[in-house]
Amino acid sequence: MEVPVGTLLGDAAQQAGIDVLMPCGGQGRCGRCAVIVEEGQVRRRSTQRLSPEDVAAGYALACQTIVEGDVVVLIPPQEKIERRLRESKRAAKVALPFPYDLHDQTLRKYAVTLVPPSLHDQTDDWSRLQRELARHYDVQGLQAGLPVLRKLGRALREGEWTITVVIELDPSGTPPSPPPLGGGRGSPPPLGGGRGSPPPLGGGRGSPPPRGGGRGGSDGSPGESLGGLPRLIDVLPGEHLESLWAAAIDIGTTSNHVWLVDLISGEVMAQQADYNGQIARGEDVISRIIYASKGNGLEELQQLVMGTLNRLVKQAARERSISTDQIYKVVVAGNSTMIHLFAGISPESIRLMPFITAVNQVPPFPAREIGLEVNPEATVDCLPGVASYVGADITAGVVSSGMCAMEGLTLFIDIGTNGEMALGDCTWLISAACSAGPAFEGAGVLHGMRATAGAIEEVWVNPDTHEATYRVIGGEKPRGFCGSGLISLLAEMFLARVIDKSGNISLEETNVSLEETNVSLEETRFLGKNLVSRRVREGEHGAEYVVAWADETAIGEDIVITAVDIDNLMRAKAAIYAGFSVMARSVGLTLADVAQVLIGGAFGQYINVEKAIQIGMLPDMPFDRFHFLGNTSVRGAYMALLSQEVRRQMTEVGQMMTYLELSADNTFFDEFSAALFLPHTDERRFPSVRESRMVSSGE
Ligand code: FES
Repeated sequence: MEVPVGTLLGDAAQQAGIDVLMPCGGQGRCGRCAVIVEEGQVRRRSTQRLSPEDVAAGYALACQTIVEGDVVVLIPPQEKIERRLRESKRAAKVALPFPYDLHDQTLRKYAVTLVPPSLHDQTDDWSRLQRELARHYDVQGLQAGLPVLRKLGRALREGEWTITVVIELDPSGTPPSPPPLGGGRGSPPPLGGGRGSPPPLGGGRGSPPPRGGGRGGSDGSPGESLGGLPRLIDVLPGEHLESLWAAAIDIGTTSNHVWLVDLISGEVMAQQADYNGQIARGEDVISRIIYASKGNGLEELQQLVMGTLNRLVKQAARERSISTDQIYKVVVAGNSTMIHLFAGISPESIRLMPFITAVNQVPPFPAREIGLEVNPEATVDCLPGVASYVGADITAGVVSSGMCAMEGLTLFIDIGTNGEMALGDCTWLISAACSAGPAFEGAGVLHGMRATAGAIEEVWVNPDTHEATYRVIGGEKPRGFCGSGLISLLAEMFLARVIDKSGNISLEETNVSLEETNVSLEETRFLGKNLVSRRVREGEHGAEYVVAWADETAIGEDIVITAVDIDNLMRAKAAIYAGFSVMARSVGLTLADVAQVLIGGAFGQYINVEKAIQIGMLPDMPFDRFHFLGNTSVRGAYMALLSQEVRRQMTEVGQMMTYLELSADNTFFDEFSAALFLPHTDERRFPSVRESRMVSSGE
């Protein structure tokens, strides 16, 4: 077809009868109108949403590209564009940073054949087994509880004196003798060692934990309930060496995650997640602590989380067609309150001055003690925490993120109900926590949901018509918003001026008329209010903006974001930003000194950096400094399951990290108040957002 020189590719396509999607109204912001210029001359007015590699590959934004001669343009399927956008804005998944070595495992399975007893050898079954294991596998001082001893005699006779034993060599998580010193094949490098710097750890508060003697000694935590001696966990008649199962668990205030791990291959075989059943008794840690301090509150909360975890463990086991009894070890990460409640320990002191935990490092214990439905004798190893509001999820996150092997100052943040963060370079580490609330996990928001099929994960709002388009996980009809969808929606509403700097939904008249938005007067319930669009209205919870109309949704009602939801999101993002500004300032640094930002958290791998900057949740810095790592807490638990060296590093990180109590810092409230605007009271901190707003409004 022929068009004059200077025609936009988008207009040319339209004239040719080809519909190119333009969700952001041709502002060059969404990147969804990307086409591929195969031949000929074009001029790209903006490549804001394209990487240099994209441009080199011929990509151009149809809404921003001008025809300058004969051109051949390919319009790729929308799915391809979306996939490319998704991949370019999300961090790559971090692979396991060390090769898995089964021998670096404290959980062992051996098949042993015993010489049957006779009138000449009347050694009892248990001594016979101990003798054999000591002789062939150098297992010395084997211990066993009554439940497993009760099974031994029958298993031996059923298996005709061949049995499979499952043994935990050292349930405390400390290296056995000889200890792996790092650097060996299959071991992750020691902390800080990747850069050739002197070993940074162990010189601070307390030395590394005693080897084989339990990890409770040097830091004053209680002694081991399971000791440092090998422990018999199960006996099975016959030979069953084909599998060895364990689980990594993350107990978040809002969401719980269970990964089922095959310790033979080291691979995660099933992943399950759900909201923490305790939510019904309080959305944040403080309300849970208060609940736990009343009547049977502690027992109730413990049962609620156990109910959720047991269901997830069962689902994961069913997925791999195994019985939960075959799960012999569990490593648990979570914030300090969650770990206390999981173990049935009162968290009351956490919220009382001077804000200390009952225990930062819970000694390992058998699963039967808390009703966790795996093998009753399975070792439950809770990872070490740092302080009341910086728990095992952060030590797990810091180690699993690889932060200690990176160059330069690193900010690590775990976005969850509690915004927990750490700053440093692993020769020093400072940590802090702020209460963000559960909004970013989809809870506490009218149409919030977890990031599963049916969740709106990205939204575009056209700045001219204020119409919304969205993308749904799984491509089905939407049921609500997940955290990334909420961040995206907040940013888009701000850029399209549906909400103002304070997050208020604009109810004033704009230059958009009802005719332009193609809405009849009967269609809107808000006649006479001069609303910005038919999507903005007064609802049951105050002003609201409709993202999906009832007939488009899977729930049969409009999916909206309300003023209350926006308020929750604003508070959450302000708390997070204020947290790391205060933390950086406390060590005489600014966010500009940060070489990289590692973001963990259950939904961390899905959020769009650009949108998170636009709402002022993340500092305004080049995208390539951000790395989204997903749920680093469960990943840390998984890595600790696989490697004793990693497990030891977690203890060390927990011991060396300095904790900054934000509630005792008098600048926190000022920073929080200043961050309660979009993107921030001080716009100079967010130059790129200012620019985007100007582009959107055609200034
Ligand atoms: S970038 Fe072209 S329509 Fe959004």
